[in-house]
Amino acid sequence: MEAKNDSPGPFPMGETPQEKGGFDHVPKSYYVPPLNRPSLTTESTGHDIPVIDLDGLTNNPARRSPIIEDISKACKDVGFFQIVNHGISQRVLDDALSAAFKFFNLSNKEKSKFMSNDVHNPVRYGTGIKDGLDKIQNWRTFLKHYANPLDQYISLWPETPQEYREKMSEYSKAVHKLGVSLMEAITESLGLGPAYMSAKMEEGSQTIVVNCYPPCPQPDLALGFSPHSDYSCVTIVLQSSSGLQIQDPSDGKWSDVPNIHGALQVNVGDCVEVLSNGMYKSVIHKVKLSSDTTRVSIASLHSLALNEKMETAPELVNEQNPKGYRESSFEELLDFISKNDITDGKFFIDTLRLKRND
Ligand code: OGA
Ligand code: NI
Repeated sequence: MEAKNDSPGPFPMGETPQEKGGFDHVPKSYYVPPLNRPSLTTESTGHDIPVIDLDGLTNNPARRSPIIEDISKACKDVGFFQIVNHGISQRVLDDALSAAFKFFNLSNKEKSKFMSNDVHNPVRYGTGIKDGLDKIQNWRTFLKHYANPLDQYISLWPETPQEYREKMSEYSKAVHKLGVSLMEAITESLGLGPAYMSAKMEEGSQTIVVNCYPPCPQPDLALGFSPHSDYSCVTIVLQSSSGLQIQDPSDGKWSDVPNIHGALQVNVGDCVEVLSNGMYKSVIHKVKLSSDTTRVSIASLHSLALNEKMETAPELVNEQNPKGYRESSFEELLDFISKNDITDGKFFIDTLRLKRND
């Protein structure tokens, strides 16, 4: 099939950048406004992005409080940190990434079985964000599926590659447990106690987003993922190589997140910003591209159950800090995404902020 260069959705049904192989330039529909182009906006190489050693968080009381202090500082200042000694073995990480690569290497016919623009689908494959609808195309293909409770969803996941369900569920279970522990640390650091959200997080939603960013012939013109924040409490990301960039909430400058072998990345999401009444910041991030490497990442978004509303902790509201956000649920976020375009800078969190006199 001919590439429909320069038209919206240049990858006709199921056709993805890596199979195109023939693109020697970036079609105009991918052009990012100069303000967001990685070559013009990267300000630092991320030497000051925190790396937190989690060893002892759940089993060594003497280590717990310094770790919680580190987490608190990172959530306040950056909204992002990397974690090492997180307890998930390198074998489990490598197997999950390998299953992800194999999925993206399947034929278009196989992957297109999951193709849908209905953001409510529990399993969804696509290119960009919403195929053919995005204002700016992202140089990305993705597979998204729910993972908690696992029994409810695993039968909907791809059956090929053969090891996909086994390896991805092993990783999903481990990262879910880690997400619950991190939220316990976060609520403790906010003075709400470690059990404040535990039960709701245990039963909460987990969305696995497996992203594939093929090599791009002109990586200075396009992005793998437009700037956005995640609608989650925390998002934990495993990546095959570097590419993530985060925005400094104080001055808007972008930094490259360095790739640390075996580390995981943690984004503070919109729900923690709401819960903390703005004390912790939901990080704005984007993905830049490489001209020679295919990058795969697995983002695990940990939130309350689909219909459960997140609200600002009443304990954190007082005269000096009036309530800054309205409550919302994951379902409402999905409704918002179905009607709005994040590649055009429409962010759900902006609709949650209350004006001073509300
Ligand atoms: C996401 C995301 C970043 C990455 O899936 O929400 O921001 O590194 N992914 O792929
Ligand atoms: Ni994200």
